[in-house]
Amino acid sequence: MKIVTIGRGMIGGGLATLWRTAGHDVEELGRDGGDASDADAVLVAVPGAKISAALSKVTGLDGKIAIDATNIMPARHGDFPSYAHEVKSFTHGPVAKSFNMNFGSLFGAVREQRVRPSNWYVADAGAREVTERLVRDAGYDPVHVGDLSRARDFENAVWLLMGIQPVGGVFYRFAVPGEL
Ligand SMILES: NC(=O)c1ccc[n+]([C@@H]2O[C@H](COP(=O)([O-])OP(=O)(O)OC[C@H]3O[C@@H](n4cnc5c(N)ncnc54)[C@H](OP(=O)(O)O)[C@@H]3O)[C@@H](O)[C@H]2O)c1
Repeated sequence: MKIVTIGRGMIGGGLATLWRTAGHDVEELGRDGGDASDADAVLVAVPGAKISAALSKVTGLDGKIAIDATNIMPARHGDFPSYAHEVKSFTHGPVAKSFNMNFGSLFGAVREQRVRPSNWYVADAGAREVTERLVRDAGYDPVHVGDLSRARDFENAVWLLMGIQPVGGVFYRFAVPGEL
């Protein structure tokens, strides 16, 4: 797949490395923006308060499948139902929210684990197949926890993840009985 990451820091750059290893063609954009016309999917990985500023500098977004990885920390801003909806106001296509509930500092260790870590996501139906593929290609198992109407709840859940006060980050794994 051709993927354009909007943001090339820990999350955008880290996922770009994992996805290239899996055989994808990835272009990374920074704060100066660029063009996403030929992307099969775009990843949004900029500071949460900078979503509109960043996306307004990217052309070719209309109708694209987008994966929003942004977080609401340190505090939610704006009037959209969720940051994923703010992304959708630019792309007008199917949106997923994923990777926001994982630690970028651990991307290099994902494939070294005894079992594949989980990665929760919420998504419009039209974004599910691409999101599940890209979650797997990053080394995680996708766990669908709702449609995009749950994006705000999902974003707020990051405070619970922070509540376990992980030192250096954590992986998590959801499993059905007998799987572990
Ligand atoms: N770090 C984590 O473990 C983690 C985990 C899950 C989710 N997240 C979320 O993912 C998003 C990215 O986090 P990160 O850790 O990858 O951040 P980061 O390393 O600081 O990278 C931020 C990226 O956003 C770009 N950007 C675009 N417009 C910007 C603007 N107006 N101001 C500042 N930067 C702008 C930067 O561009 P330049 O390259 O041009 O500077 C940079 O590539 C955030 O919403 C964060 O909350 C982070």
